[in-house]
Amino acid sequence: MSNAVSASSINIGELIQPDRIHGRLYHDAGLFRREMDEIFHKVWVYLGHESEVPNNGDYVRRQIGLQPVIMVRGKDGKVRVLFNRCRHRANLLCPHERGNGEVFRCQYHGWTYSNQGDLLAPTFDEAYDSSLRKEDFGLTPVPRVQTYRGLIFASASPSGISLDEHLGGAKEFLDLIIDRSPVGEIELTAGTQKMSYRANWKMLPENSLEGSYHGHFIHKFAFDLFDSRSGRDRMDHDEDSTRSMPGGHMVEDFRGVQYHPRQEPSPARKAYVEMLIKTYGAERTESLTFGRAPILFVFPNLMFVQTHIRRLQPISVNETHVYYQPVMLKDVPPQINQEILRSHETSFGPAGFLSPDDIEVMERNQVGLQAMGNEWLFIGRGIHREEKLADGATIGHDMDENQLRGLWRHYAQLMSHV
Ligand SMILES: [Fe+2]
Repeated sequence: MSNAVSASSINIGELIQPDRIHGRLYHDAGLFRREMDEIFHKVWVYLGHESEVPNNGDYVRRQIGLQPVIMVRGKDGKVRVLFNRCRHRANLLCPHERGNGEVFRCQYHGWTYSNQGDLLAPTFDEAYDSSLRKEDFGLTPVPRVQTYRGLIFASASPSGISLDEHLGGAKEFLDLIIDRSPVGEIELTAGTQKMSYRANWKMLPENSLEGSYHGHFIHKFAFDLFDSRSGRDRMDHDEDSTRSMPGGHMVEDFRGVQYHPRQEPSPARKAYVEMLIKTYGAERTESLTFGRAPILFVFPNLMFVQTHIRRLQPISVNETHVYYQPVMLKDVPPQINQEILRSHETSFGPAGFLSPDDIEVMERNQVGLQAMGNEWLFIGRGIHREEKLADGATIGHDMDENQLRGLWRHYAQLMSHV
């Protein structure tokens, strides 16, 4: 297919086959713009967690697709999501990543708004006649904001399915992540690691959710090193662990792994497990401990990988920002959160053994895509044994690619509404 065909007239169905996808999906700037309009500016997008704005006046700057927003806890204690655009001349009202304040003051002409979004005062207002009524010039709220267990999502579309419907089967796996705290609360308070990679945004969820396959190659050095240094705990994988869910969500489900620890658990870990048993009972605690937390992708921009949440931010067709935030568990012995942080640094930190290799391989992928000889990418692993469930989910073996096929089916649906 020639790139001369305009992106708006492309039939997406022609680019997505059951077992293969066309390379144009990763490098066509027109398709990127269409993705922003049809996906990011319509569906529920993950923005952050309540613990990032704990006090009245706390705010963080975020984006819904390409649209800048402010997530702020107002003086009334309520978290709002407001478009980050001065009502006067559309200047970016808040240029800071995060902070605390009673007001937002536009740096261009000084118009000032409360942290609840009300216009307090235009400047030199004696020259404005009755055509400027302050109550008509408050900051524009994003049409829909909903939370799930402290995670804040927003939709730039006034209509559409509820967040509950959107999350669907993914809620079960978010619960497994959050219930690792004995009080059922996580906190994103350990800091943020910001990264940029020169490749398409869709490569990150694909890469993050098929680590069982590529891990044998790009992470082989790291796994061999972990083994030789101190002995890695052995885990026998359950075969049926890879799942796609309606809504484009994907999961690697580790509840079925058989775990063989090499060391006696520490006193802190024993105390932690006791706390979980007290809250959830012995059976559920089995699913919450011993490295059984799922690797999860919630369409289109939230991931949980072992130690941290990833918030993905597309910038352009071949540039993506991603924010890693270690997930701290509320009310656990302090050693447990310290272990999470050390493990995060070792594997995913800027000099970690896993993540930098993933970033490098995604950038090489974007380069490889420029070769036009045969532009199809193959995602057919395990297609003959893919099991379909009644709710539309699919189950595959460890290292199968059924989850990727599910992601692309959902993508095709959204992009075909044009
Ligand atoms: Fe990886």
